[in-house]
Amino acid sequence: MGTLAVDLLGKALKNPVMNASGTLGYGIEIEPLWNIETLGAYVTKGLSEKPHHGNKTPRVWEERHGMINSIGLQNVGVDDFFSHYFPFFVERKVPVIVNFFGFSEDEYISCARKVPSHHLVVALEMNLSCPNIKKGGISFGKDAPAVHNIVRAVREVTPVPIIAKLTPEVKNIVEIARAAYEGGADGLTLINTMPAAVIDTRSRNMPLKGGLSGPILKPIALRAVYDCYKEVPIPIIGAGGIMDAEDALEFLMAGARAVEVGTATFADPFAMPKIISGLGEWLDENNCAGIAAITGIAHG
Ligand SMILES: Cc1cc2nc3c(=O)[nH]c(=O)nc-3n(C[C@H](O)[C@H](O)[C@H](O)COP(=O)(O)O)c2cc1C
Repeated sequence: MGTLAVDLLGKALKNPVMNASGTLGYGIEIEPLWNIETLGAYVTKGLSEKPHHGNKTPRVWEERHGMINSIGLQNVGVDDFFSHYFPFFVERKVPVIVNFFGFSEDEYISCARKVPSHHLVVALEMNLSCPNIKKGGISFGKDAPAVHNIVRAVREVTPVPIIAKLTPEVKNIVEIARAAYEGGADGLTLINTMPAAVIDTRSRNMPLKGGLSGPILKPIALRAVYDCYKEVPIPIIGAGGIMDAEDALEFLMAGARAVEVGTATFADPFAMPKIISGLGEWLDENNCAGIAAITGIAHG
């Protein structure tokens, strides 16, 4: 059988499949169904310097081709994650990507500072979709100079590799990706959710405004990966509507080194183990020695 192993920012992952941030709790919750070491790496729920309670319910809404969530970045805080949850990943020897956010540059910096440089911490994944409170709530990730500055500010306070996770809600994602790279990002995650809403015709109100994810996002995410691959010389993690191994292959061929799977787990909690075995079968059927070799092959 060909190997599913990939190198990501100098760390060897046993396969290129990981959960998308916020869609697999703190990892331990999935254990009654399958073991966390099945994944190439675990991505944390977005962590902040201090804990957050998040939004009122409803927080998730099923759409015809996806779902909308408005969790409100609820999390236990970075200190609690490392004292209570991280030892579980150390015990299982599972690489961890630490997704984190802030509502100001200072919050990003103080959170990043608290993340230890540990051999299992692959990278910090910066959620750049957050509103910048000091700039009237406009998201950091929508403006190239703001992305450059925030990445550079975090780069200065941590030796841990940085992955910039970008919002698709921009005119030119390549320009934003380049700004992240020039600010010091070592990798990119493409993409986060799109702003969306639902109307409940029975109650005649808008019960939920939030981020759209799932299959409806896939072509947009694929385009972002494809366009950034040639223009920005750092590894890309593809995310957005990956439901099966075929979808994952599309992202790898478009230029992703690894993939994150989110909404699929809500539809089928075994989606990720199935994707991993599906990729293994594909390698055998195609007489391919290793999955790493297919990154970017769609570019010819
Ligand atoms: C319930 C839920 C919670 C999420 N929480 C976060 C988060 O804390 N930080 C983040 O960067 N992205 C978060 N996301 C976005 C996902 O990580 C992912 O980028 C997006 O959902 C697209 O992938 P998918 O279509 O496979 O779900 C969340 C998505 C969902 C559905």
